[in-house]
Amino acid sequence: MEDMKLIADHLVFQYDKSRSDARRALDDVSFVLHKGEFVGLIGHTGSGKSTLVQHLNALIRPDSGSIYYEGADIYEKDYDRKALRGKVGLVFQYPEYQLFEETVLSEVIYGPVNMGMDKKDAELAAYDAIRRVGLEEECIDQSPFDLSGGQKRRVAIASVLAMDPEILVLDEPTAGLDPAGRSELLEMIKELKEKEGITIVLVSHSMDDVAEAADRIIVMDKGRIIYDDVPVRVFEHINELEEMGLAAPQMSYLLRDLKKAGFPVNTDIITLKDAREEILKVLS
Ligand SMILES: Nc1ncnc2c1ncn2[C@@H]1O[C@H](COP(=O)(O)OP(=O)(O)O)[C@@H](O)[C@H]1O
Ligand SMILES: [Mg+2]
Repeated sequence: MEDMKLIADHLVFQYDKSRSDARRALDDVSFVLHKGEFVGLIGHTGSGKSTLVQHLNALIRPDSGSIYYEGADIYEKDYDRKALRGKVGLVFQYPEYQLFEETVLSEVIYGPVNMGMDKKDAELAAYDAIRRVGLEEECIDQSPFDLSGGQKRRVAIASVLAMDPEILVLDEPTAGLDPAGRSELLEMIKELKEKEGITIVLVSHSMDDVAEAADRIIVMDKGRIIYDDVPVRVFEHINELEEMGLAAPQMSYLLRDLKKAGFPVNTDIITLKDAREEILKVLS
């Protein structure tokens, strides 16, 4: 039990409770999140990803089922949900719309101060977080509104990191960024896991985004978890994924086509780097 961090136990949630026939946004969702994992949460638009992640830090209360963090039920009457929001940090989809302070520094300080940290410690935590997300020092006194799209995302991530979370949940962090911005941001998120051991939940509808980084992929469809496995095992279900409006990573398709054409390649490969090595090996 030592390494167990967060357990979602039979979560059911429906937005419109006045209609008994309305579709459930979450329909019996259970999983266990372990310390140090990098989980990709994948699903078509409307599959329930954002609804699920808002349960993880108790922003939404389920109609039934519960969540246990370090063994405690987060929906219990006396549970400290404010402290939980520091431990399970959630970066919303399009977080730049929620930036409101005059400078990057005051934006990032806001979270830890709100958690009860004194001003000086919060400032140190903010400087540290700004460095960890790879923002230049000179951004600190700038208005967040003057930054690029990718930099604004980093400010939003820093403001959550400044609260020193154990689990960092990012809802579609690469949405709307250009390809270079996407891969830089993904690289930074990967480093948070690899260098600092932060547990990551990365929400995306792009398999290519999560294939590069995730140790485990949870696939949602219509409020349910359909697959929860290591990436290669999930991508074996290409046909089912396509029926859900998803796809396997590009490399998966390429290697399958090469195999069909008679090249003896390993089709379990999913990242660009591994695919390059495999193709060079077969060609030489
Ligand atoms: N605030 C809301 N009010 C009513 N229905 C909502 C609300 N947010 C989401 N939904 C519905 O809940 C379902 C799941 O949505 P969501 O969790 O946003 O999915 P995803 O993040 O995977 O796109 C969808 O059918 C969506 O229309
Ligand atoms: Mg969403």
